Amino acid sequence: MIREIAAARRALLTSEFPMQATATSIASDELHSRFASAQSVLVLTGAGVSAESGVPTFRGGGKTAVWKGMPFDVISSGAMLERNLPAVWEWFNYRRGVLRNLAPNAAHDTIAGWENRFERLTLVTQNVDGLHHLAGSRNVIELHGSVWRARCVTCDARTNLRESDHQEGVPVCFGCGDSMRPDVVLFGEMLPPGAFERAAMEAAACDLCFVVGTSAVVYPAASIPEIARAAGAYVVEVNPEPTPLSRICNEVLSGPAGEILPLID
Ligand code: OAD
Repeated sequence: MIREIAAARRALLTSEFPMQATATSIASDELHSRFASAQSVLVLTGAGVSAESGVPTFRGGGKTAVWKGMPFDVISSGAMLERNLPAVWEWFNYRRGVLRNLAPNAAHDTIAGWENRFERLTLVTQNVDGLHHLAGSRNVIELHGSVWRARCVTCDARTNLRESDHQEGVPVCFGCGDSMRPDVVLFGEMLPPGAFERAAMEAAACDLCFVVGTSAVVYPAASIPEIARAAGAYVVEVNPEPTPLSRICNEVLSGPAGEILPLID
């Protein structure tokens, strides 16, 4: 499939055959026509959409991410936040430092472009890297928060860490003077109030749903395409690997998102 995509992409660039033939070699005729007529589209993304930007995924590759001897799900946990907030900040400062040098890829750019193409485009992401916003997406539901925001543990005031970055120690809330924490959902924590409910409402109302770069094992995020399918939407998965959701999808496009999404038309 990856070879087919590369050939289709080459053909697109060199115009060896008409655009429509190239597009239909990636998407079925059914998807092609649904893409042309869809009014409300929902895209659910996971770590795989940022893989081609250089952001490591959580699962796959057989390795467990470790930070200073602590597994990822220990340093990124609600329990660690209670025990050692400065260590959690040190880890998130490191992550922002890595992300600052990374740029959106063709998958982020394509999804951002779809906002101008469809009457309604809702992007629901599990990613905290902010790359969708950098690519220009505006209607984004961040189910797991963003590393680019801090939130006061007491009054919930938020600070944008792109505007005033924080390098050391624990930042303090300008409003109430209490400590701030990364505005990210940590292991063992609940989703931000209302975020899943909004995503579920959009899923129930969309005609076309793309599931891109997620292993679809973390709930409730993974239930969003199920809601869309149950409500009658056409559901398309884009991922180099099969996932537990593949069997409920109407179509599975197997390959890297940065290669596949630009060829859907
Ligand atoms: P995972 O790391 O679980 O899954 C990444 C998925 O991306 C896998 O299915 C890969 O096959 C796929 N993939 C890899 N490269 C790709 C590419 N170039 N294009 C498309 N797909 C590609 O990431 P998530 O499903 O996002 O939660 O994980 C969900 C949540 O689990 C995360 O948000 C995180 C974690 O616990 C929190 O931190 C709260």
